[in-house]
This record gives sequence, C-alpha cells and structure tokens, in this order.
Amino acid sequence: MTTDADGTTPATATASVPVIAPDETDPDLRKLYDGFAAAGLIPLWTEIGDLMPLTPRPGAVPHVWQWDTLLPLARRSGDLVPVGRGGERRAIALANPGLPGRPYATPNLWAAIQYLGPREVAPAHRHSQGAFRFILEGEGVWTVVNGDAVEMRPGDLLLTPSMHWHGHHHVGDEPMVWLDGLDIPLVHRLDAGFFEFGEDGVSDRSTPSRSRNERLWGHPGLRPIAAPDTPNSPLMAYRWADTDDALTAQLELEDEGHPGVIEPGRAGIRFTNPATGRDALASLRTEMHRLRPGTTTATRRTVGSSVWQVFRGNGTVTLDDRVIEVAAGDLIAVPSWCALTIAADTRLDLFTFNDAPLYEALNLARTETTTRTETTTRTETTGSTTA
Ligand SMILES: [Fe+2]
Repeated sequence: MTTDADGTTPATATASVPVIAPDETDPDLRKLYDGFAAAGLIPLWTEIGDLMPLTPRPGAVPHVWQWDTLLPLARRSGDLVPVGRGGERRAIALANPGLPGRPYATPNLWAAIQYLGPREVAPAHRHSQGAFRFILEGEGVWTVVNGDAVEMRPGDLLLTPSMHWHGHHHVGDEPMVWLDGLDIPLVHRLDAGFFEFGEDGVSDRSTPSRSRNERLWGHPGLRPIAAPDTPNSPLMAYRWADTDDALTAQLELEDEGHPGVIEPGRAGIRFTNPATGRDALASLRTEMHRLRPGTTTATRRTVGSSVWQVFRGNGTVTLDDRVIEVAAGDLIAVPSWCALTIAADTRLDLFTFNDAPLYEALNLARTETTTRTETTTRTETTGSTTA
C-alpha cells in the first residue's frame, strides 16, 4: 500500500475510499483510541474503506453447484433422514463458499434442494419468510397452500408467500426433487422471523389438476372484481405451458422483425402478481429466460444478488473472468456487482430469482451492461435492475 505525504492513501491503489492514517505510535493517539474503545465508539476514519467501498464488495463469491453432485446427495438424504415435524423439510441448502458456516446461496437468498419420497408428507407450517418452488423434474406431489391443493409439475413455479400455511404430500411412486427459494437470510438479518406449526399432515389430500386459486386468478388480463389487492400474488401456480408459450412467442416475434426479446436471441418473462402487476413475491423477483442456440448475452452486473438454475439445455456462464460449463439442474450464485455473461450451446432455458425488489424499494438499483460486437464495446449504466 502506498501513502501520500498528507497521510491519505490514493484511491487507485486500493480501489476504496482513501483513509487518513495518522501516526499510530503517537501515545496521545493511542490514548484517544483506548478512550473510544472504553466508551463503545469506533471512528469512521479507520473503517471507511470497508464501510463505504467505491463499488460493492460482497462477501459471497460466484459459485456453481452441479446437479450431478446434488442429486445423489439428496437421494442419500432420502434414505437416511426422515421428514416430519421438527426438521419440517428434507431440504439441503446451497452454502456459498464466501459465507462460511451459513446455509446461504447469497447474503439475501436461500436456495435448497428439497427431496420428498413416495407417500411422504411434509407437515403444515407457516412463517414470515416468502418461498417458492421451481420444479425441474418428477411428479406426484401437491403442495397445499392455505388449504388449497396445488399440483407441482416440471417447469412450474409454485408460490407459498409469507405467512401462508403450506405442506406437501406425495401420492406418486417415485421420489420428487425440486428447488426451494426463500428470503431466509434477509429476514434473519432483519430480525423479522416468525414461525407457526400447523397440523402434522396436510389439511387437504385431494389431487386436483387445477387449484382453486388458479380457477380464480389464472386468466390472462382478467381480474376477479371481488378480490382485494395483495402484496404477494394470489396466484400460487405459474404453469410451464404458459411460460413456454410466452417465451416461444417472443422468439417468433423476433423472427418476424417485431420487438419483444430482451436482446437478440434472448427471450425472458417475469412472474408477476396479477392483482398489482408487481413481482409475484414482495421480496423476491422470479423470471424465466430462453436463449437460442449459439446466443451470447451482453455482460451485466447488477447491485443485488441472484441464483440461476438451468432448466433445460447446455451452455456456459462467465462469472467475472471464470467460464463454467452448465447443464440441466446446475445452480449458479451471482453476488452483487459480479459480471455475468451466459452463452447457449443448445437452446437454453434458465429459471432465476433475485433480491431486486428490495434494492428497488430502497432506490439502490443499478445495472451496468456491456455489449460487444466485432468492432465495438459499449458499456451503459442504469438505475434499475432490469436486464
Ligand atoms: Fe416452509
């Protein structure tokens, strides 16, 4: 580290706010610092580099968990660990290597693989934390949300918003595994967690193909007049057939020369609350993206963190300067301000969730997009988290 004659450290040397560095061998200064410590005080000038970095400096690191590793461990958990009251769920969380000892994919996001065997039941409970499930494969499980049985099928997004009762029951013959996403780390840091136990089973063992909430809310652009606005979506299931149709249509429109895609070769939809048009969950943004084969996205870095799961296809993700091959089921943690580029070898469908609603509510959203052509590189920064 270099220090200027006036006692400050040049910003370029440390990529942080320059700190004043007085002579720490001065006995009077030591006495002052001892007085601070005794009084429960810490001066800003010794801490500003960490407290107020020039750009985000997350503890979490970019990381990929491969499905081929996760699935056998989930299966083994099914052999050895019962599901029921107490542990509540056979869920195995992604633990970011940059956040040692914590079951957090990123500082705000929980992502876990949940495993439920044939005829098993995950007991009812509810909590402050908002949750969703994204289904990669399998069938036979219904999640019962506030007494309404919702079928879980591949490609579906299912919601269990904050303080909604929920339990799961499996009527099939094969184990089922899915991704759980929650705002557990955020709620934990906010000291906002409440948890209540429900019945040991689930309140409804029925197996309808269409839940009551879908019958009421699942009609595009048609809002039931009698239903109130709610901060979380009243629609608990976003079906793959609808998501797939929407993505397909965007790429078809691109072929016909019309707008609709995020960027060339890349379609994307956001799951929204049909009562308000806002995010489906108040604290989590959920989206599905589709890249044509051979497409490479622009490079984006965004304030706030995200987790991605490959639904179908193969490709690579570049996380800052690391290039990693990904396949169906693989999970990717992207910390705040990490540069992300996605390239598709085949058609590549990706589910993603992030903490953007939080940053937007606090007016902290910022995205930097770098677009490269054969001849130019263009970088643009906006005050939003929109791709
Ligand atoms: Fe839960």
